[in-house]
Amino acid sequence: MCGIVAYIGNRPVVDILTDGLRRLEYRGYDSAGVALVGKNSLRLLRSVGKVKNLVDKINKDWPDHASICGAGIAHTRWATHGAPVEKNAHPHTDEKKNFAVVHNGIIENYAPLRENLIKKGHVFTSETDTEVIPHLIEECFEGDFIKAVTAALKQLDGTFGITVISPLFPDTMIVARRGSPIVIGVCENEAIVASDVSAIIAYTKQVIYLNDNDIAVVKADSIDLRNIDNVPVSREISHINWDTGAAEKGGYEHFMLKEIFEQPQAVANTLRGRLDENDATAVLNGLNLTPREIASVSRITIAACGTSLNAGMLGDYLFEDLADLPTEYEQAAEFRYRNPIIQPGSLIIAISQSGETADTLAAVREAKNKGASVVAICNVVGSTIARESGAGIYLHAGPEIGVASTKAFSCQVAALLMMALKFGRARRLSRQEGLDIIHELKRLPELIQEVLKTSRHIEKVAKKYSRAENFFFIGRGYMYPAALEGALKLKEISYVHAEGYHAAELKHGPIALLEEKVPVLALANDIPGKDKIIGNIQECRARKSPVIAISTTGDGEIKNHANDVIEVPRASIFLTPVLSVIAMQLLSYYVAKERGCSIDQPRNLAKSVTVE
Ligand code: F6R
Repeated sequence: MCGIVAYIGNRPVVDILTDGLRRLEYRGYDSAGVALVGKNSLRLLRSVGKVKNLVDKINKDWPDHASICGAGIAHTRWATHGAPVEKNAHPHTDEKKNFAVVHNGIIENYAPLRENLIKKGHVFTSETDTEVIPHLIEECFEGDFIKAVTAALKQLDGTFGITVISPLFPDTMIVARRGSPIVIGVCENEAIVASDVSAIIAYTKQVIYLNDNDIAVVKADSIDLRNIDNVPVSREISHINWDTGAAEKGGYEHFMLKEIFEQPQAVANTLRGRLDENDATAVLNGLNLTPREIASVSRITIAACGTSLNAGMLGDYLFEDLADLPTEYEQAAEFRYRNPIIQPGSLIIAISQSGETADTLAAVREAKNKGASVVAICNVVGSTIARESGAGIYLHAGPEIGVASTKAFSCQVAALLMMALKFGRARRLSRQEGLDIIHELKRLPELIQEVLKTSRHIEKVAKKYSRAENFFFIGRGYMYPAALEGALKLKEISYVHAEGYHAAELKHGPIALLEEKVPVLALANDIPGKDKIIGNIQECRARKSPVIAISTTGDGEIKNHANDVIEVPRASIFLTPVLSVIAMQLLSYYVAKERGCSIDQPRNLAKSVTVE
């Protein structure tokens, strides 16, 4: 995820900026850059890869850097618009080099803005959405820095956390936010700004968090806050009492927990700008498929591994239910060793958080060799699978650092539902059915928040069952892939043997294993199939297995059947699996914590599996 650091004051600015960038490295990034302003001069350096590459470049090109004080901005970029190459790294400037900008977030209307600015003579040098910002500021500039930035920001749709510097105003930095966090560290005769407190707390623990649409005019000796309508606002100074290690994790004990709690925002990022209420469909330009091509797809195969495969299984249900399309899911590792039947009209969907998983990549290559259309659903922009597929949907979930995949799953399902909606609308869904799905998707971040609010209760349930050595997770229909994902989460981080099973299959063998020491987690949400799962719960209780049920808030009936109940909000059948999986992510996390496991780096596991 992109990171911002900016400084103004009398200390050597380059050291402070590069130190800040190093502290943001944990967020994941693919390129970095820095810009400094002196009176009427702007220096800019960018490089691909690690911050170390940028530092090497600074040492070579700016041998005097240790003596430069004043204002500077720096950035680590995690590519969204445009490949991870030097010209796309931040900072970006206008062609006169009057304004330099670092930006986190996504400018949704950048394409028409860019087109308009090009018509007015502006020359663009990158593929980024960000570059419109300095050009717009320049276009609005009539001698007043703040007015120009404010006027430019008013034209932006989407999200931003930005810092702007100008050689015309070397004693001023302008900082603003809408949707992407920005924090200002309050120090004496200097100020440090960052997208994340971890880059600040080595300098000060007194910080101001900007609210949406706040603009701060930051000088070494003053911080002046206003809103986008130029009305002065005041924000509290907060005291941070985390140490540096905790700050990287946003105050959470583990990356996994941080990423679980990031899900409302991550899903909102996946959905942003992609839901079109006018046509009651999803806007997924990256698929590169015309409506005619969509209508001519006759069969879908979804290939993926692990958690991504579990999301893919849900995709199977979604495409069949919403688009009437024969769909199958396939372990990517099997795909190329079978004889995958590719016919005209076959579409392969490869799902991979990292975009580097060897088996999924091999499936993409096999499918392409056989002449199939391939689209990828990836999180990491510019990853091999995304590049080789040539078409797809990026999740924009931000980097996933904990080895156990959490937020990627929810975002993958959101992306699959949007894709199924688009295909469904092109084939059979009515406008009203399309709108219903859009409205439900829009509520998803809020519904996830409701699940997260129950974490204390889930922690108690986890503690109660944390000594069990064997677990079953059971579900039916849409909740079957959710059961598989719940079991995968528990086994990988807590080393408890957990099996995900179709509830109806239990009695075809595994029921022999049930006894009082083997708890069963049953997905008993109030959606079609609930009555049958209650029957399966009875079967488990009759074998003395304690049952934890995940049910729908307010559904009192389940309490009569289960030993413990975890409730998730009522939602449609399409999104109930996501809410239940999030509850199980929390359950697994707290079981692992209780057992003293290495949660972010479980034994034997790698974040990206690049071997077969
Ligand atoms: C489970 C997990 C793995 C990955 C799998 C695929 O928590 O992290 O099962 O889901 O290795 O990885 P990607 O999605 O990067 O292809």
